[in-house]
Amino acid sequence: MPALSPSDIIAVIGAGAMGAGIAQVAAQAGHPVRLYDTRDGAAQAGIDGVRHQLEKRVARGKMAQDEVEAIVARMTPAASLAELADSRLVVEAIVENLEVKRGVFAELEALCGPDTLLTSNTSSLSITSIAAGLARPERVAGLHFFNPAPVMKLVEVISGLATDAEAAETLYATAAAWGKVPVHASSTPGFIVNRVARPFYAEGLRLLQEGAADPATLDALLRQAGGFRMGPFELMDLIGHDVNYAVTRSVFDAYYGDTRFEPSLVQQALVEAGRLGRKSGLGFYDYRQQAQPAAA
Ligand code: NAI
Repeated sequence: MPALSPSDIIAVIGAGAMGAGIAQVAAQAGHPVRLYDTRDGAAQAGIDGVRHQLEKRVARGKMAQDEVEAIVARMTPAASLAELADSRLVVEAIVENLEVKRGVFAELEALCGPDTLLTSNTSSLSITSIAAGLARPERVAGLHFFNPAPVMKLVEVISGLATDAEAAETLYATAAAWGKVPVHASSTPGFIVNRVARPFYAEGLRLLQEGAADPATLDALLRQAGGFRMGPFELMDLIGHDVNYAVTRSVFDAYYGDTRFEPSLVQQALVEAGRLGRKSGLGFYDYRQQAQPAAA
């Protein structure tokens, strides 16, 4: 199946860390992009954040200013879901909550034409469940980017029980055309990467709880001696503890409480305290004195 054409409109719902990054990827590939968020001003703030990241590349001599202007000009904030109706592809990147996502997909189905591909950037929720109850579940799939979306190459194209093979192929070809490395996966809890990554976080948290070493020591060890790009604590701070905790809970529940995936009380406490990591300024580390994370 061919990739979507650059003239096709891409809609992104949720202008947080992931949504803004995915919108940037699509706009850089030449698509007109509409970005929608229920939080007032969030979509425009997401677009401003993309400009900020791209201008850092201009400062480093890696991009021309007129390229930045062209990319940003392709991105428009949408004031309502209805403004996404003529999109060819919707990528949902809102809170990791099945009921909220299902509500959004039901609204999208009522608004969009029959050819619109409806996808979720969910980290762990069942694509089959997100699509259940829709009149046309065959055009629903997972399109799972990694953080930061403009940098990370891998994209999981996830098929639920009803997903049409042609829709999955179109998404695969589109992700490849966007410069990504796509992989097909079926909708199992956590898909591929988030399933394999669970023990990385869980064992790090267990070591911490057992008093083996502090987060900075464990992170440095895994980075310097283990060859990992990031240690588990700095990576959880980047992902956001609300998101990562929701993913752990969803994988744990999906595997009927298998203790391998048991959520950590340390992480639960961070979420309860609002210490969500980089995005809130405080997590395992304190980011309040430094600029927000670079994403491009
Ligand atoms: P975030 O918390 O940074 O952003 C979520 C955004 O969605 C917020 O701006 C919020 O106002 C908006 N939102 C919430 N409910 C909405 C609704 N009903 N309609 C429109 N907008 C709504 O979250 P983040 O990190 O961007 O994650 C979003 C999704 O991407 C989640 O499903 C998460 O599991 C997934 N994901 C997250 C990764 C990460 O490293 N943070 C990596 C890959 C996937």
